Amino acid sequence: MWKKWFGRSDQRSESSYGDLDPARVPRHVAIIMDGNGRWAQKRGLPRTFGHRAGAEALRAIVRTAAELGIGVLTTYAFSTENWKRPAEEVDLLMNLFSDYLDNEIEELNSNGIRVRFSGKTEELAAGLKAKIDRAEGVTAANERLVLNIAVNYGGRAEITHAVRLIAAAVAAGSLKAEDVSEEVISRHLYTAGLPDLDLLIRPAGDLRISNFLLWQAAYAEFWFTDINWPDFRPEHLIAAVADFQRRDRRFGGLTK
Ligand code: IPE
Ligand code: IPE
Ligand code: MG
Repeated sequence: MWKKWFGRSDQRSESSYGDLDPARVPRHVAIIMDGNGRWAQKRGLPRTFGHRAGAEALRAIVRTAAELGIGVLTTYAFSTENWKRPAEEVDLLMNLFSDYLDNEIEELNSNGIRVRFSGKTEELAAGLKAKIDRAEGVTAANERLVLNIAVNYGGRAEITHAVRLIAAAVAAGSLKAEDVSEEVISRHLYTAGLPDLDLLIRPAGDLRISNFLLWQAAYAEFWFTDINWPDFRPEHLIAAVADFQRRDRRFGGLTK
């Protein structure tokens, strides 16, 4: 059965999930929330309007992911490379993250959503970092959906960080080099404890991974759409999950 969302009733009901198989919902879905700038440009608006509309689009997607019973939704909000953008755009994005945490945590918490962050959050402004820590703390015991927000995230930075931790453990004598396994590496990533990625969604038409979840996406299914992120709606998530359910995942083996 699909699980109902409580709160602001501005979105769809679970009846529209009818064609999906509740037993084969992906455990971990990730979205590269791309195309905010192009969405705004098409409307003759400044890029910042696209980012605002993108933050709004996320609300309905989190709700749908929870209703579908997806276990983890990882959303790419800001990459380690996005600092290359003009300072005003970066500042606006940071303010939007802060507003999102101020405005959404209560409803997320009351719906059993656990909020986690992946990325170098310690490099963010102290005020934002405090809100991130608070959001993680307040929702830590929730078990319905993990909303894992990737901020100041880079796949290579994440692997580099893990290698440093592992090297330090080996140097300190608490870990033997020959005991470094794929499992040990996974445990030292920001996503420690989360299942491997099943489905990676990228809106806005670009067919690339942009340094996202490089390790975790080893056997992920990819789903691309030309729709810009601010126009991404629950029906697009549902379509992606429906396509996922039609894929033959072999993991290097043979079809069962
Ligand atoms: C995604 O939208 C948001 C971030 C990368 C922070 P973009 O801002 O990249 O939008 P486009 O790709 O320029 O359209
Ligand atoms: C990826 O989008 C990062 C986020 C959506 C946060 P980018 O817009 O930064 O990716 P590129 O530069 O087109 O590869
Ligand atoms: Mg982009």
